Amino acid sequence: MPLNPAAFFLCTVLALFAIVRAEDPYRFFNWNVTYGDIYPLGVRQQGILINGQFPGPDIHSVTNDNLIINVFNSLTEPFLISWNGVQNRRNSFVDGVYGTTCPIPPGRNYTFMLQVKDQIGSFYYYPSLAFHKAAGGFGGIRILSRPRIPVPFDDPAGDYTVLIGDWYKSNHTTLKATLDRGKKLPFPDGVLINGRGPNGVSFTVEQGKTYRLRISNVGLQNSLNFRIQGHKMKLVEVEGTHTLQTTFSSLDVHVGQSYSVLVTADQPGQDYYIVVSTRFTSKILTTTGVLHYSNSAGPVSGPPPGGPTIQVDWSLNQARSIRTNLTASGPRPNPQGSYHYGMINTTKTIRLDSSAGQVNGKQRYGVNSVSFVPADTPLKLADYFNIEGVFRVGSISYNPTGGGLYLDTSVMGVDYRAFIEIVFENPEDIVQSWHLNGYSFFVVGMDGGQWTSGSRNQYNLRDAIARCTVQVYPKSWTAIFVALDNVGMWQLRSEFWARQYLGQQFYLRVYTSTNSIRDEYPIPKNARLCGWASGRHTRPL
Ligand SMILES: *[C@@H]1O[C@H](CO)[C@@H](O)[C@H](O)[C@H]1NC(C)=O
Ligand SMILES: *[C@@H]1O[C@H](CO)[C@@H](O)[C@H](O)[C@H]1NC(C)=O
Ligand SMILES: *[C@@H]1O[C@H](CO)[C@@H](O)[C@H](O)[C@H]1NC(C)=O
Ligand SMILES: *[C@@H]1O[C@H](CO)[C@@H](O)[C@H](O)[C@H]1NC(C)=O
Ligand SMILES: *[C@@H]1O[C@H](CO)[C@@H](O)[C@H](O)[C@H]1NC(C)=O
Repeated sequence: MPLNPAAFFLCTVLALFAIVRAEDPYRFFNWNVTYGDIYPLGVRQQGILINGQFPGPDIHSVTNDNLIINVFNSLTEPFLISWNGVQNRRNSFVDGVYGTTCPIPPGRNYTFMLQVKDQIGSFYYYPSLAFHKAAGGFGGIRILSRPRIPVPFDDPAGDYTVLIGDWYKSNHTTLKATLDRGKKLPFPDGVLINGRGPNGVSFTVEQGKTYRLRISNVGLQNSLNFRIQGHKMKLVEVEGTHTLQTTFSSLDVHVGQSYSVLVTADQPGQDYYIVVSTRFTSKILTTTGVLHYSNSAGPVSGPPPGGPTIQVDWSLNQARSIRTNLTASGPRPNPQGSYHYGMINTTKTIRLDSSAGQVNGKQRYGVNSVSFVPADTPLKLADYFNIEGVFRVGSISYNPTGGGLYLDTSVMGVDYRAFIEIVFENPEDIVQSWHLNGYSFFVVGMDGGQWTSGSRNQYNLRDAIARCTVQVYPKSWTAIFVALDNVGMWQLRSEFWARQYLGQQFYLRVYTSTNSIRDEYPIPKNARLCGWASGRHTRPL
């Protein structure tokens, strides 16, 4: 019997995977990425849609699933999707940022083969090239626990993805052109919930039942406060870690971060405001959605509840209260607390100072004085094929230099299996947010002022939260511990999107001299090759 093309494709994919991960289930996605009209703030805009949707469809998965995502680029320019929080263990080739993966040319497709190995939790995907993120192309990712692994709360009656973010009425090409001219962007025009403006989105609940909301800030720069009129929220999960369950009446979600809360519909049957507003801004942008009781006697009423605005201490205290439930299971049956990170000696300290300034008369941002510029070839491919002249390991220093800002393709070398301390230092008066691809890290401390070695005395070495995106308050520091157990080329970036676009990022090259698939997979057979890697032959499996 002849195979139809889809079945043939499936067989090919299975053959590619058979060697290393035949045992885990597969989920297949076909995505068509197009331009289409959207009207989130009432004006027509050219949005980036996935299968006609804005935001794009959610990815639902279970720990260890293989996700086979065939992305057709029907835009008129190169396109890539990256997976915020998915660790792509041993496989940075599929990370979907320009430092690791070749863009999908217009009119072509690429099949990402990911595995959500040893992960649970709430994350999202987003378009990583140019300034596409300002036009959509993002969606939720959820990784459920395997059936036999206990989850530290009852199954919710419903599980909703809530993507919040600031938004511009200008299109992504206009915003990018502004940045390319070396100018800063103006303040955003509004805030969206699931791609909709004021009262554009409604979540239906049944009285007496409990719901999970997976809230991610997919916006471009602003920290946002999330709250629901008349309701409390119980925080249960942060970027793949089950937290000590703490009840909040409002929650700060910094740009790039994800949180799960449980909300019980325990109020009289009517509609209630869901409110999202900007934090730490002199002008406050606010939007609302609706929590709709199925037995609702009437529409939302009264003023939407106010929340914190410029108070930093409130936010810092909330952040410090977010801790790991050591006895709860994570992706594995054993408790999350069985890895005693606080007993391990760090082997290296890296201090990262954010830099902002002009280079050649244009606005740029950097880390330890280097403002990242992309190379002509993905760094991971240059590394794999030993192509010289694309980047230099050591092109960014481990400590602030105090020197002026300059451009380079910054790559920092670190050793596989090292256990390191990274201190983010923020001399500026804005809240920063940093993300490390490929990893989850322990947020051991944050405080105001200058970090010193004495700051270590206040580290939480017991139940710090493990996550992948962390904020740094104005004129403050945040310290993290990272176990470098994932070989590859991993982007470390500001989640303030204009800043990462203008150079506030670099790559961490986690290196081992062994050449074993136990440590790193070979390049995927279907890898696109571009730049100096074009025409190279991939090493047979
Ligand atoms: C993607 O969508 C566009 C616009 O609807 C359509 O013309 C094109 O054929 C679709 N491509 C695929 C691969 O489905
Ligand atoms: C593009 O999609 C087709 C199925 O329509 C598939 O056979 C092919 O492998 C895909 N190409 C890549 C590079 O993933
Ligand atoms: C983006 O906005 C600019 C300025 O309003 C406009 O000239 C341009 O046509 C827009 N581009 C698209 C693709 O909508
Ligand atoms: C921690 O997790 C356990 C399940 O292992 C649960 O019984 C307990 O209520 C949780 N504690 C808190 C404070 O969330
Ligand atoms: C950590 O370092 C201290 C002091 O150098 C040493 O006494 C201790 O044995 C080390 N612990 C581990 C687990 O290596």
